[in-house]
Amino acid sequence: MAAIDRVVASHIDGARSWLDVGTGDGLRAASIVDSLHRPPRSITLCDSSLGMVKTARQHLPSRRVVRWTLEEDPPFVANESFQFITLLGNVLGHIHPQTARLNQLTILHQLMDDDGILLLDFNNRWNVRAYGTWNAGINILRDLVHQPRATFTVTKSINGELISTPVYIGSVKEYRTLLNISEFNIDRIIYFNYASGKSEWVLTGQGFIEASKKEGS
Ligand SMILES: C[S@@+](CC[C@H](N)C(=O)[O-])C[C@H]1O[C@@H](n2cnc3c(N)ncnc32)[C@H](O)[C@@H]1O
Repeated sequence: MAAIDRVVASHIDGARSWLDVGTGDGLRAASIVDSLHRPPRSITLCDSSLGMVKTARQHLPSRRVVRWTLEEDPPFVANESFQFITLLGNVLGHIHPQTARLNQLTILHQLMDDDGILLLDFNNRWNVRAYGTWNAGINILRDLVHQPRATFTVTKSINGELISTPVYIGSVKEYRTLLNISEFNIDRIIYFNYASGKSEWVLTGQGFIEASKKEGS
């Protein structure tokens, strides 16, 4: 299991409830659940794609898997909230523009227990190892002169057809701002090399954030 998933598992082991947003095919969530000694009493997985939801249901047949796009009203019973909420695999990278990401975090704030924890990982555009010294250097310089470049085009070959999609690649500075405006405190930020699982630092790893609600928010 990836080092970052072990960190997630250490949080949610024995938890009251866990909501995984953007669960995709559910394989990652299934592997995290399998590693737990005491799975959370309530586990909810959601994704905006119906295809992903169907696949995730096959991988986690005994769990609640729902189709939900963060832009819509939550499909949960009134007042249902969660102790842990995760966004894994750069989920916010699929949401554009910045104001939409802010709205999503605000919705998640409302869905989180007062003593809850938000766990999210993000692709870090200052990461020299992932994007090269030149590109990461330009990204850092642009951030310094307040002309950030945050949305990139990723092209993938799917069934022989080249498909291009915009992806938001964040920075710790932007996540600090987003989480602060949406009333979260950042408790910890760590950096990882996802491939090796090694601990890294801000210029050499992808980011992982643990955040809680601001007092009284
Ligand atoms: C890169 S995948 C990550 C999948 C999984 N969490 C993982 O780490 O393997 C991102 C997922 O987020 C979902 N997604 C994108 N925008 C979303 C939104 N607005 N609300 C809920 N899910 C969304 C996509 O359908 C996709 O399955």
